Amino acid sequence: MKSSCPEIRAGVADRILEITIDRPERKNALTMAMYSAMAELLTAAADDPEVRVVIISGAGGNFTSGNDLTDFLGGSASGEESPVFQFMQALYSFPKPVVAAVNGPAIGIGTTMLLHCDMAYAGEDAIFQMPFVDLGLCPEYASSYFLPRIAGHARASELLLLSRKFDAREAVSLGLCNAAVPAEEALASARATAAELAQKAPAAVRLSKRLLRRGTHDAGLEVIREEAGHFQQRLASEEFKEAATAFMEKRPADFSRFE
Ligand code: COA
Repeated sequence: MKSSCPEIRAGVADRILEITIDRPERKNALTMAMYSAMAELLTAAADDPEVRVVIISGAGGNFTSGNDLTDFLGGSASGEESPVFQFMQALYSFPKPVVAAVNGPAIGIGTTMLLHCDMAYAGEDAIFQMPFVDLGLCPEYASSYFLPRIAGHARASELLLLSRKFDAREAVSLGLCNAAVPAEEALASARATAAELAQKAPAAVRLSKRLLRRGTHDAGLEVIREEAGHFQQRLASEEFKEAATAFMEKRPADFSRFE
């Protein structure tokens, strides 16, 4: 299975597709080409009997620093036709188990995509954050729907409204990750779990995954669409421009002039 983008590496061995986000000089920030490549890989893997499990990890001690902010400032779309949305949909409805290995920054979609993986292992070096409000944006990938359900309203509000960072142990206590492990063991833990899953009866695994998610699948998809509409509008806002420009200029954002 071949990736269409050099910054997304892919390889299948022993019925496990490993997808590696590989752009360490930008902390694995995701460009449109990278989202497209991941969407294509997942779409192909969904129907490929040689793939029973997918692992998602990042190279160079980073999971991903989320959407590439330069892409967003350049006016890249995040609406339903966009590569971001194609990726979100492909992972959200992926019929086989997905196991994540998280090291270093897991920012924005780096955190929210874990809500749609089936299991995740966090290295003790992992740092999670959903900085949507700090960027003048709003929650995406149904985080406003699933986070209160797994972690409770108070904790979800704290993480989403304050954009607070959290570590691997907290990610486990929130229910986002299965275990916090030494940094160098995150990928090995994901591989061990994937190998175990790949030995199991494949149709039974697929059916069980579908049943585990059936109660929230359709409602979650509706929220993904609704959030994406708001998010797209927020990208055109002055609040986002101030936040993204401040990030590029390595200064704190100043929202004092906004109403
Ligand atoms: N988009 C574009 N460039 C990014 C990026 C992103 N999401 N995340 C990091 N980079 C770039 C930095 O601008 C920097 O570029 P430079 O070397 O030209 O200065 C380089 O990657 C290294 O990042 P740096 O910030 O120096 O690393 P750090 O270890 O101090 O911090 C992060 C790492 C991930 C915590 C920090 O880069 C960050 O907060 N990034 C933005 C995350 C974000 O807001 N994502 C969008 C969510 S919707």
